[in-house]
Amino acid sequence: MSNINRQLVLQARPKGMLAPGDLRLKEVQLPELKDGQALARVKYLSIDPTMRVWMAGDSYLPAVAIGEVMRAGGFAEIIESRHPNYKKGDRVTGITGLQDYVVIDASAKQFLQKVPKIPFVSDTVFLGTLGINGLTAYFGMEIAAPKKGETLVVSAAAGATGSIAGQIGKIRGCRVVGIAGTDEKCQWITRELGFDAAINYKQADWKAKLAAAVPNGIDIDFENVGGEIMNTVLELMNLHSRVILCGLISGYNKEDFALASLGTVLVKRLRVEGFIILDYASRFMEAATQLGQWKMFGKIKDRETIVEGLEKAPEAINMLFTGGNTGKLIVKV
Ligand SMILES: NC(=O)c1ccc[n+]([C@@H]2O[C@H](COP(=O)([O-])OP(=O)(O)OC[C@H]3O[C@@H](n4cnc5c(N)ncnc54)[C@H](OP(=O)(O)O)[C@@H]3O)[C@@H](O)[C@H]2O)c1
Repeated sequence: MSNINRQLVLQARPKGMLAPGDLRLKEVQLPELKDGQALARVKYLSIDPTMRVWMAGDSYLPAVAIGEVMRAGGFAEIIESRHPNYKKGDRVTGITGLQDYVVIDASAKQFLQKVPKIPFVSDTVFLGTLGINGLTAYFGMEIAAPKKGETLVVSAAAGATGSIAGQIGKIRGCRVVGIAGTDEKCQWITRELGFDAAINYKQADWKAKLAAAVPNGIDIDFENVGGEIMNTVLELMNLHSRVILCGLISGYNKEDFALASLGTVLVKRLRVEGFIILDYASRFMEAATQLGQWKMFGKIKDRETIVEGLEKAPEAINMLFTGGNTGKLIVKV
């Protein structure tokens, strides 16, 4: 084992997409472990759109400070422990940061959740379907309270969260229409995941195609994107229908962005509810158990896009904004 820890630290707050140098690769010596500490080797990193939000400024969590290791979720394995709650070989997920190793310190109240070794289940599933994205889809769809026969539209539908949200919609008996950025993604969600229709929003006539795909209007918008896509969806919504505001990725790279037409929210008497997955932490186990069962019985399928190498993490973050991923985007450290 090397005693060098490579870390990606935030060097500058990005303007638009990440530029070379916004995250800087730094090498530090691993410290000698003290009582109450454990050392984990990070194996996989979860690449999430919210990382761009954390770089920009304070939001639902404080901004990552300049010079600080970039905050990121990850999957790690304990390789040495003087911590009462972890032993060598334990597998954990949580906020690891973009680095090779993470020191877990009881006094710093740093917490990484232990996860079991389940036969035929890959480690990376704990970052996607059984991790933040599956949980977000699960609780977002719980807020949506779909009824059989309703029409659900999901944006960023071939992404980690949208692909699961749409499949939960199918399990609940909805007509599900996804919006995604390539024909291949549209084919994946309709042919393999069972969405009823998919619209490629990069085609010129996508708005007409979306309208044609929702003959009974839209009852639920599971919104991941915002901007023009959201405004187009809102125009097609039924009176008193609901918008689950999960994310607004089209605006994360902009200094100032228009979220949606509130005029349409008013005229259509829409109920709009935002949520942040951290609020549901006490129910993660319940949701992960259900998601795991659905996955085991083939009711939920998933895909991963894996980028190799910690040093590639900045490029991977940008891939989220160009649609370079299908399903969960992960960096293998
Ligand atoms: N509320 C919460 O607690 C919570 C938790 C997790 C995630 N989220 C949100 O959920 C959304 C999806 O996150 P994820 O982690 O699952 O990422 P993801 O969907 O796997 O990846 C992002 C996808 O968004 C699409 N996209 C990017 N920029 C776009 C644009 N300008 N217009 C339309 N589509 C665009 C791209 O696909 P295309 O090829 O289709 O363009 C890209 O693949 C994000 O908004 C994220 O912030 C919220």
